Amino acid sequence: MDSAPKTMMMPTAVAFFEDEGLRVRSLMNNTRTVELDLGRILCMQGGDGDGSYARNSEAPASAITLSKPFILLAIRSMKLFPDDPSLRIADLGCATGYNTLAAIDLVVETLRRRYRVECNREPEFEAFFSDLPSNDFNTLFRSLPPANGDEKQRYFAAGVPGSFYHRLFPKRKLHMALSFSALHWLSKIPEEVLDKGSAAWNKGRAWIDGAKKEVVEAYARQSEVDLKAFLKCRREEMVEGGVLFMLMAGRPSSERPENQLGDPDSRAKHPFTSSMDEAWQDLLNEGLIDEERRDTFNIPAYMRSVEEVKAAFEGCEGLEVMGVEYRRLVEHPKEKQEEWVRDPASYGKAKANMVRATLKPIVEAHLGPTLCEELFKRFQNRASADIDMLRKTCFYGVILVSAVKN
Ligand SMILES: C[S@@+](CC[C@H](N)C(=O)[O-])C[C@H]1O[C@@H](n2cnc3c(N)ncnc32)[C@H](O)[C@@H]1O
Repeated sequence: MDSAPKTMMMPTAVAFFEDEGLRVRSLMNNTRTVELDLGRILCMQGGDGDGSYARNSEAPASAITLSKPFILLAIRSMKLFPDDPSLRIADLGCATGYNTLAAIDLVVETLRRRYRVECNREPEFEAFFSDLPSNDFNTLFRSLPPANGDEKQRYFAAGVPGSFYHRLFPKRKLHMALSFSALHWLSKIPEEVLDKGSAAWNKGRAWIDGAKKEVVEAYARQSEVDLKAFLKCRREEMVEGGVLFMLMAGRPSSERPENQLGDPDSRAKHPFTSSMDEAWQDLLNEGLIDEERRDTFNIPAYMRSVEEVKAAFEGCEGLEVMGVEYRRLVEHPKEKQEEWVRDPASYGKAKANMVRATLKPIVEAHLGPTLCEELFKRFQNRASADIDMLRKTCFYGVILVSAVKN
């Protein structure tokens, strides 16, 4: 990170002119901190433009492909419900784009085949697409297969807005609950991380990889509270014999929580680390924001270990783990990486679009639209300028879990 501070011009006036959308509050020590109501602003970038999630979700798509054998195994060992006229499946944290449709299709078609063979009948299917209310449900609904009123339509679709850390369905409603690449998003930034007077103040970093132990511990505590809440809600909502399948970003068991990303190349190249911190520092050095504005921005994501996931299940009777595994995904195919080494500018652009797709709504809520775009431009420049980094390979760790409701 370029840490040499340059002269700061008009820090407060410029930094705070776009405060709309933020809930600003003072903590007891009178430090000015910004607490975002994440449940209202967190989402992937909607629409289908260059920086949209729908056009920048290849890594989560690979995660769904990786999940396929695990899902098929879970469905093969799942109890059937011959007396239920319809089967109800929910995708929690569905976002927009093709991934959620592919996941629902896979589950519906696999279950349909089992019913045809073993029960000599096909149930009807209900698919619930659930995400935070800020999700672009309109774009998602437009991409659904057309419902033509035909009795044989693949499934009946519905949107369910709300946080998966709360109840979303009535008791004993769901036969299958799925969640892909979503559960590493926390319900909030821990309060102490937003308190300038606390040891957990996360100075100079947008995220927690390599951060002080107090910051990482605060995130780890929040992650534990959140995952337990998620499991308790699903336990209520699922029918007996129902299956829960989750894939979330995770870290290897051998790594301490402050090393969220495993190997050094992945740590350096991950979109939440070096280039992101450098981009914030650029805004600061150019006098476009002040330090506090930079340091109050934190990415609400935590990569759990397999042990942390298992511990959450141990505190939640009624959900029995069938399998849990850590796996790694490479960020891009090798050919794509070689192409980018020949054309670093297009790499910077692609990487910035990927980050826009994931972070734009929360960065925009923090900085306003103009400075938000300035940040992503700095990110793009930083990413395309570092050829050595471009040659490195970044892996995304994921944890796959399947569980059955007893
Ligand atoms: C990276 S996207 C994954 C989308 C999709 N499942 C896929 O595999 O492409 C993560 C999604 O989780 C959603 N999400 C994050 N926190 C959530 C919460 N507390 N409740 C519901 N959805 C949440 C985000 O809004 C986002 O749409």
